[in-house]
Amino acid sequence: MTTPNPWSLVPAADYERHMGAGGLDQLAPLSALFQEAYLAAQPDRVLVVGCATGNGLEHVSPAVTRRVVGLDVNLQYLGICRQRFFHLGPRLELYCTSALAWRAPPGSFDLVHAALVFEYLQPAALVEQVAGWLAPHGTCQVVLQLPGGEGPPAAPGVLELIRRAMKLVPPEELTALMERHGLEPRRSKTVPLRHGKSLWTGAFSR
Ligand SMILES: C[S@@+](CC[C@H](N)C(=O)[O-])C[C@H]1O[C@@H](n2cnc3c(N)ncnc32)[C@H](O)[C@@H]1O
Repeated sequence: MTTPNPWSLVPAADYERHMGAGGLDQLAPLSALFQEAYLAAQPDRVLVVGCATGNGLEHVSPAVTRRVVGLDVNLQYLGICRQRFFHLGPRLELYCTSALAWRAPPGSFDLVHAALVFEYLQPAALVEQVAGWLAPHGTCQVVLQLPGGEGPPAAPGVLELIRRAMKLVPPEELTALMERHGLEPRRSKTVPLRHGKSLWTGAFSR
């Protein structure tokens, strides 16, 4: 029997409390990073890897985007995402799956956004998937957590499993993997957060 991904066990309320303003306070900065990537790409088709409850999808404009696909291993998160973004109708497709197992025809997306998800799976395998999913002119925007900063203590229990499952990915390692697949770094920056933590974000394209 395979071990379930610990993320599939974290209730949405615990997740949002942990990530929200009373916890790590990362939801607002992550939403802003999605908005920046979205506005720069103006994508007809966008894929969000590890979309959780849909943070950032409020920036998707039906006038710009024909297809929004979200992947996540937690079915409860996807149910909430569907309810919150009901107005996107059939444009929004949500799949409860590991990103490593999901298949799409090559070149299916103009923007692939992957924020704080590389830390929970094999980065090389996800980069290979992304390289296949991206259209020739497409962009992949990644957000990684940088080392340092304490943050408020996580609630005990299942969030502790998440903490143990996380493995930081150095931006240089990610960049080398992307380059191996012909995806060149275009822009990057570090985003300081409350509690002394910081994020790194980078855009890659052919
Ligand atoms: C820290 S949260 C992502 C935050 C979100 N991207 C944002 O910008 O607010 C990590 C998400 O990745 C999902 N996840 C973890 N492993 C995954 C996998 N193998 N495939 C797809 N999603 C995964 C988790 O369920 C969780 O919703």
